[in-house]
Amino acid sequence: MIDMTKVLADTPGAADRVFLNSAGASLPPTPVLETVLGHLRREAEIGGYEAADERQADVEAGYGVFAELLGCRADQIAFTDNATRSWLAAFDALPLGAGDRVLVGEVEYGGNAIPLLMRAQAVGATVEVVPSDSDGTFSAEALADLLDERVKLVSVVHVPTNGGVVADVRRISDAAHAAGALVMLDACQAVGQLVIDAEALDVDIVTGTGRKWLRGPRGTGFLAVRDRAVAVLRPKLADLHGATWTGPDSYELRSDARVYELWEFDLAARLGLIEAARYLLDLGPKAVEEAVTQRAAYLRSGLAAIPGVTVHDLGARKAGLVTFSVAGRAATDVQAELATRKVTVTVSSRSSTYFDMSRRGLTEIVRASPHYFVTEAQLDTAIEEVAAIAGGR
Ligand SMILES: Cc1ncc(COP(=O)(O)O)c(C=O)c1O
Repeated sequence: MIDMTKVLADTPGAADRVFLNSAGASLPPTPVLETVLGHLRREAEIGGYEAADERQADVEAGYGVFAELLGCRADQIAFTDNATRSWLAAFDALPLGAGDRVLVGEVEYGGNAIPLLMRAQAVGATVEVVPSDSDGTFSAEALADLLDERVKLVSVVHVPTNGGVVADVRRISDAAHAAGALVMLDACQAVGQLVIDAEALDVDIVTGTGRKWLRGPRGTGFLAVRDRAVAVLRPKLADLHGATWTGPDSYELRSDARVYELWEFDLAARLGLIEAARYLLDLGPKAVEEAVTQRAAYLRSGLAAIPGVTVHDLGARKAGLVTFSVAGRAATDVQAELATRKVTVTVSSRSSTYFDMSRRGLTEIVRASPHYFVTEAQLDTAIEEVAAIAGGR
C-alpha cells in the first residue's frame, strides 16, 4: 500500500491540480528536488569538480541502485541524458550490414524508428513490423514466423507512448533468442510504474528515462546492457571516460556499460535521478505498479462511460497510460480546455507511433497518465471535467 499522506506531502504540485502527465514529465518528489538544488548550491559554493569529489561515493552507489531497480548487475548500468540517448548508444554499437533485418512492434516509438530507418537505409538492412495480436499486443507468434538468422535485433516497447498496452516481453525474448537475435527493451514508459526485472524478462538491453514515471529530473536517462549484448555490441562513440588513451595510436575501451557514458554530465541531475530511484524502491515497485494500474483502470472505465468519449487503449494487460478522444473536439482543444480546469493531460500524435496510429486511423489522441500520487477524488474530477467538455459545458 502506498502511504498517500507521505507521498502527497512530498508532492506539493499535486495539491492544486489533477496532474495526469507522468508519461510526459512527472512531478519530482521533494527529496529529488532538494537533492538537485542542494548540489547546484554546493557547486556554486566550491566549484563543480570539488562538489563532485564530495559526492563520488553517492554516484558510485547509484549504479547499484539502478541494478536493483532493473534486475541486473551494477557493471551493466550506464547513465545517459534521456531514453533516446540510451537507445542510440546501444543501437549505434550494433553491427548491422546489408541484408540484415530488424524487427519492431507496431507501437515502436518514433524516436527509435527514425534512427532505425536512417541506419537501415544507409547500410541496406530492413526494418520490418511485427503484427499485433487481435487485442493489440505485440504478437510473439507473429514474431516467431518472421524470425530467421538475418534478424539482428528485435526492438520491443514495453509500454508505448500512446496507450496502456503492456508487451508480453518474456515470450518475445524467448522467441528472439531462439533465432539468435538480440532484444532491446524500450522501458521508457515502464520503469517507475511497472516492476522491471531484466533477468526475468531476459532482455539484452534496457533503455529508460528519469523524468517520467520515475519522477526524476529532466535530462536524465539510463541504460542496461546485459552479457549477451556485450558479446555482440561494438561501442563506437567512447570518449576518455569510456576508454583510456594508451599510446599514440592505441586506446582501451572499458569493459563495463560505462563505455556508453561520456565524461561530462549534469551531476546535480544524476544525483536527483538516483534519489528518485531510491524513493521508488522505498515505496516498493510492486505497490506502485498496483496503485498506478488501479488508478488508470478507474479513469479508463470512468471515461468510457461518458457519451461521446472513446477510449483507445489496446491490450489484454494495460498499464498507466489512458488515451481517449472526445467526439467533435480536437485532442489539442480538449487538452487546452482541461488545462483551464486544472486538469493536466497531453496529446499523442501520429508521428510518435506512426505504424500503430496510421493502422488505427488515428491522428491525435488525448493522453492521461495518473501516477500513484493522484487520488480517486481527483480522478473523479477529471472524469467530470471531460464529461462537461463532451457535453458542451
Ligand atoms: C515509449 C517511449 N520511448 C522512448 C521515449 C523517448 O524518451 P526520451 O524523451 O527520454 O528520450 C519516449 C518519450 O516519450 C517514449 O514514450
